Amino acid sequence: MRISFADSRPAATHALAIVVAPAMIGGAGLSALPEPAQALARAAAQANRFDGENGAVVEFFGETDAAHRRLLLVGIGAKNDFERAGAALTAKLLTSGETNLVVDISAVAGDKPAEAAISLAFGAVLRSWRYDVYRTKLESKQRRSLEHITIVGGGSEAAELWKDREGVAEGVMFTRTLITEPANILYPESFVERCRPLADLGVKIEVLGRDAMAALGMGALLGVSQGSVREPQLLVMTWDGTDGASPPLALVGKGVTFDTGGISLKPPAGMEDMKWDMGGAGAVAGTMKALALRKAKAHVIGVCGLVENMPDGNAQRPGDVVTSMSGQTIEVINTDAEGRLVLCDALTWVQKTYNPKTIVDLATLTGAIIVTLGYEYGGMFSNDDGLAGELLAAGASVGDKLWRLPLGDPYDKLIDSPIADMKNVGPREGGSITAAQFLKRYIDDGVRWAHLDIAGMVWASKPGATWDKGATGYGVRLLDKFVADNFEQ
Ligand code: BES
Ligand code: MN
Ligand code: ZN
Repeated sequence: MRISFADSRPAATHALAIVVAPAMIGGAGLSALPEPAQALARAAAQANRFDGENGAVVEFFGETDAAHRRLLLVGIGAKNDFERAGAALTAKLLTSGETNLVVDISAVAGDKPAEAAISLAFGAVLRSWRYDVYRTKLESKQRRSLEHITIVGGGSEAAELWKDREGVAEGVMFTRTLITEPANILYPESFVERCRPLADLGVKIEVLGRDAMAALGMGALLGVSQGSVREPQLLVMTWDGTDGASPPLALVGKGVTFDTGGISLKPPAGMEDMKWDMGGAGAVAGTMKALALRKAKAHVIGVCGLVENMPDGNAQRPGDVVTSMSGQTIEVINTDAEGRLVLCDALTWVQKTYNPKTIVDLATLTGAIIVTLGYEYGGMFSNDDGLAGELLAAGASVGDKLWRLPLGDPYDKLIDSPIADMKNVGPREGGSITAAQFLKRYIDDGVRWAHLDIAGMVWASKPGATWDKGATGYGVRLLDKFVADNFEQ
């Protein structure tokens, strides 16, 4: 989607959308339209019970700027939500046959017109993403038509401000693509290949393969991958916009490119969803792209633990005891509780190698988090109230919502093992908490750490504000904002 900003409406053929707030229909809010079209707009609004509600769209036809055109009214609601208005417009027009849209925000732009304009553009771009590469028989009516949106009324700063925000949109869409790719296409090595081009943006790429990880003693991660013919990878992406002046923030993602459950095999119904069990790693990769594109003045290391979890003659068995890189031993009770086994070695590695003072890990770790929070909030666990507050605030402000859940010794005891230092599952009750307690055993003293269990947030069965059904890109905006507010100089 091409986005432009302009001071006045262009002359060429286009659909025209007028952005309105509640209670504007009767007054001067439609003055961007000539008188006959204003009357039509009022009638269309009334017939559709439309009063500028956020994300509501009314479509009609009328004459403006010497042509008959498709005209739309879109609402920003009482909260002036331009992002959702932009998203609603693209959702409406994406496959409508219309190629050009002009959006006039003049009547509602307020005292921060550039902010309003880029929020609208951001929502429009995010909602326009779709992935049709495997659809060879798409009818022309199903193909996307909308190509270009021009926003009028954002002032002279909008185009400049948009450059950074567009970088964040690119990051979100990169994550969605990774998540959408099926597991025969996206596996540990091909995940790495997809990320290599980030080097052109200044991201340093480091990759550890099976032998390197074996030499480091990553027995937990390698145990998960040993049933798969795909070689596991530890992908490390470093963005330093501070020229070495700041200690790093570490982001660590679960990247299980397919989770069959292993020998503790999952039931068939819905197993195809487990292609997106790399959603944590996907969010980390998208965040690195966003940070690099907007040249963030921060030092961030993104680590992705990439493996495939398969049943096989060589797969690990329930009851196996593995030794993690930290030296701690784990009794693998359930081979389907594999994410924590991947993350624990990635966490140890990043602490030993880069000594970060703050770590945020993201993982589609437990079905239990969906039982707890549904599809509205990611679950957060943290050993630091300050860090938890920073993440909650970032999430609330961008709409990637988080809810904090408890940690504590009584939960920790539940994963003691009779044969090893710990087992990889606790009882059914509190399943997301015991998973977090497992990870906490790998965090060094003095390190601020948060674990985000995003199993309910990565994939949507119905369209949302800024996404269609499918991959949401959850986590990228959250982490980008978290970095911007707390780690940039
Ligand atoms: N990848 C799954 C968690 C998951 C489930 C993500 C549903 C998204 C949707 C994870 O590896 C897993 O299998 N967890 C088990 C843990 C259990 C064996 C303790 C689960 O949640 O059932
Ligand atoms: Mn699993
Ligand atoms: Zn999994």
